[in-house]
Amino acid sequence: MSVNILFVCLGNICRSPAAEGAFIDLVQRQNVDGLNIDSAGTSAYHTGELADPRMREHALKRGLDLTSRARQFVKEDFEKFDYILCMDQSNYTNVMKLDPEKNFKNKVYLFSHFCRFFSGKDVPDPYFGGAEGFEEVLDIVQDGSIGLLEHLKKAGLCGEK
Ligand code: 4NP
Repeated sequence: MSVNILFVCLGNICRSPAAEGAFIDLVQRQNVDGLNIDSAGTSAYHTGELADPRMREHALKRGLDLTSRARQFVKEDFEKFDYILCMDQSNYTNVMKLDPEKNFKNKVYLFSHFCRFFSGKDVPDPYFGGAEGFEEVLDIVQDGSIGLLEHLKKAGLCGEK
């Protein structure tokens, strides 16, 4: 049985693919088994695109190769995923609009819930800013990835290869 983890932002080309790449890297380095990892955007603006070239370049400097293609979050994701981790409160609100009866509310979190050092709620959107914004996002998603994996291990939801 695998635990299914989905990272969500607006465009699925900056923050959530960075979180997906950071978490996959951590899971591989720690030889962790039993996790299925994906990302999506609440919008369809960039469907089919690779992550933003700026994010890919900054990520690669940390050894993270971002290869996923953007797709839009769909209602079926509520059934398919166990943890739906939203990068900011607006993403959270947009995801929850697709579940008006709140059947899946217990699966939907702010990503920052799992951060150890980052004390904000929202992972800042780097799209319209400069290089430091991309670095900041990578710092945050690498921090939150460690916290998330610790949580899953403590809950007995993943094992070692
Ligand atoms: P993301 O960043 O939600 O982290 O992927 C954005 C990407 C694209 C746009 C906004 C934010 N956009 O407006 O196209």
